[in-house]
Amino acid sequence: MSLRHLITSVCLAGLAAAAPAPKAQVPGYVDASAGFPQTPSPLGSLATVFGPDSTVAAIATSPPKGTESGAAPPRVSSDPTGHTSHGPFSGTATTTGAVTRAFLASSIPALPPNPTATYYNTDGYLQHDEPAPYTPAGGLGTNGTEPRYMVESDFDFESIALGLYQEWIELDLFNNGLAVFSAEDFAAVGLTAEDRALIAFMAQQESGHATLLTNMLGPKAPVQCTYNYPFTNVREFIDFNQKLTRWGESGVWGFINHLDSREVGQLLSQSIATEARQQMSFRQMLGLHPMPVWFETGIPQSWSWTYLAPYISSCPENQTRLAWQNFPALHILNQPNPNRFSPNDTAWAEVTGNRTSDPSQANITESASCVHLNTTGYGCGPGISHNRSEPLSFAGKKIYFAWDAPGQAVGPNNSYTTSTSAGAPTFVAWVSQLNLTYTPLTVTGESSGFTYQPAGEVYEGDPAVNGTMFVALTDTDLFLTPFNLSMINPHVAALGVYQAG
Ligand SMILES: *[C@@H]1O[C@H](CO)[C@@H](O)[C@H](O)[C@H]1NC(C)=O
Ligand SMILES: *[C@@H]1O[C@H](CO)[C@@H](O)[C@H](O)[C@H]1NC(C)=O
Ligand SMILES: *[C@@H]1O[C@H](CO)[C@@H](O)[C@H](O)[C@H]1NC(C)=O
Ligand SMILES: *[C@@H]1O[C@H](CO)[C@@H](O)[C@H](O)[C@H]1NC(C)=O
Ligand SMILES: *[C@@H]1O[C@H](CO)[C@@H](O)[C@H](O)[C@H]1NC(C)=O
Ligand SMILES: *[C@@H]1O[C@H](CO)[C@@H](O)[C@H](O)[C@H]1NC(C)=O
Ligand SMILES: *[C@@H]1O[C@H](CO)[C@@H](O)[C@H](O)[C@H]1NC(C)=O
Ligand SMILES: *[C@@H]1O[C@H](CO)[C@@H](O)[C@H](O)[C@H]1NC(C)=O
Ligand SMILES: *[C@@H]1O[C@H](CO)[C@@H](O)[C@H](O)[C@H]1NC(C)=O
Ligand SMILES: *[C@@H]1O[C@H](CO)[C@@H](O)[C@H](O)[C@H]1NC(C)=O
Ligand SMILES: *[C@@H]1O[C@H](CO)[C@@H](O)[C@H](O)[C@H]1NC(C)=O
Repeated sequence: MSLRHLITSVCLAGLAAAAPAPKAQVPGYVDASAGFPQTPSPLGSLATVFGPDSTVAAIATSPPKGTESGAAPPRVSSDPTGHTSHGPFSGTATTTGAVTRAFLASSIPALPPNPTATYYNTDGYLQHDEPAPYTPAGGLGTNGTEPRYMVESDFDFESIALGLYQEWIELDLFNNGLAVFSAEDFAAVGLTAEDRALIAFMAQQESGHATLLTNMLGPKAPVQCTYNYPFTNVREFIDFNQKLTRWGESGVWGFINHLDSREVGQLLSQSIATEARQQMSFRQMLGLHPMPVWFETGIPQSWSWTYLAPYISSCPENQTRLAWQNFPALHILNQPNPNRFSPNDTAWAEVTGNRTSDPSQANITESASCVHLNTTGYGCGPGISHNRSEPLSFAGKKIYFAWDAPGQAVGPNNSYTTSTSAGAPTFVAWVSQLNLTYTPLTVTGESSGFTYQPAGEVYEGDPAVNGTMFVALTDTDLFLTPFNLSMINPHVAALGVYQAG
């Protein structure tokens, strides 16, 4: 569970009687001895000729195509072959604002637990008769009803439509980086032709994801838009990708278990598992630790829409619009720069622009850069994993903020408007792993202030704040957990992304 804020957390820790540490359930590996050799065996002679090979039993076969029975359905977008346009939008929107209808209340009230939420198993045996052999009672969608892979509510429609906006930008973005940077540009930051092929493959995955989500939405599924990106070199492209896929993934974790349609949730989880791998790959291409956390966090839909919208410049006429909120931007003025071997030395506002997820500037001097260093603890070239002698951030670090006023035009055609229903911000909410942690915000000006990075852990040994994560300014320190986090929205004054590690 989350703790109210740093101060409370410290007090609680001080007052709590020391709980006995749980015993390890299996003994440790003292004096480990394995029944197999524990040193690499010497290399024999390497292969130099790669064929002819042995033949194995096989038949001639190929997938059915076109109108043949069993042929795969077409994708909603082919792999791009030519020029696509990008850049800011400079027109006037014909429609503005989020999709709305009459409101039944101004916010969702908090209720006690559902009266049916009572199952508790103390003996490890089945508590109810089984509907069939090897089939424990319970579960949803387990009683033989035929699955229907379609959204089942406005909540489902708006959530999957948001997911589709995300898949569309990823499809364009991954291809765009490959198109605007040369093989030499990639090679200069340690990324090979095989790495570019991986990025191209990830773009193709997006056309499959976009097709899946389109099919689950029906005829008014949103279509692809035109985008405006914040990078001018390969490292910034990769950094932007690892940030964008972070909120793409976390946005889905935030709503997937709230969907009415379990069938849609099933297929969506199978696509978001791939998105999670993309996020990790992009972190590795940036020389970051692939996954410095034990749990990936979930965020509300309005948060991912807030992060995504500033990068969409326009959408075609009649595009299906979204119902989610756009919060004002929260700028982290000393965002750690992953291109520096010493992130402590990051200069003020060392990011490529003023949108909240803009990447850190990678055009710093070579003497400050970690990109080409081949020194353990300091190098940040592409790799399976890197240790950083100086971490990107640490508990106790002073973090400086500036935030925008609401009422700014954002998103496709500048047709959405940032808004907040929160009072004056007094807390910083850190959303990472399983946790929502609050620290007090010290306001230093009209729309500027600071806080200190909190030290709490999820389970002992796992600092909650790490990786690419989320911060919000709030007017209260409401106690929330992963399944009711969206109740924070009426209290959010501004929203940012923090590169903690
Ligand atoms: C983080 O979440 C875990 C799991 O809910 C909880 O046990 C822990 O106390 C939380 N830590 C902080 C610092 O909020
Ligand atoms: C957005 O701009 C595009 C291209 O100019 C136009 O076709 C579309 O109708 C516009 N949409 C809105 C909501 O203004
Ligand atoms: C089967 O389970 C679903 C919920 O998963 C429920 O809505 C439906 O009424 C059940 N049908 C029968 C025949 O029990
Ligand atoms: C947009 O919708 C209007 C009204 O339904 C229709 O007349 C028009 O052809 C549509 N435009 C496009 C590009 O689909
Ligand atoms: C980075 O700053 C922290 C806090 O001032 C300090 O403890 C740490 O030594 C610094 N790191 C280096 C490598 O100077
Ligand atoms: C680095 O790029 C930023 C834009 O991202 C630009 O404002 C800055 O002048 C560049 N710095 C150098 C040293 O080229
Ligand atoms: C963000 O930067 C752009 C381009 O430099 C500028 O036009 C805009 O006013 C800035 N917005 C804010 C809120 O500072
Ligand atoms: C990095 O250093 C190691 C150890 O000195 C060496 O084996 C390796 O070839 C070097 N790699 C590069 C890319 O220079
Ligand atoms: C890498 O970090 C781990 C954990 O912090 C540490 O145990 C290990 O010694 C480090 N390895 C190197 C090569 O720096
Ligand atoms: C994040 O995780 C990495 C890898 O375990 C560790 O070196 C770093 O200190 C952590 N950062 C924070 C802020 O705890
Ligand atoms: C959110 O859920 C937690 C239980 O996990 C509960 O203690 C808390 O009161 C809930 N918050 C609200 C605002 O309903």
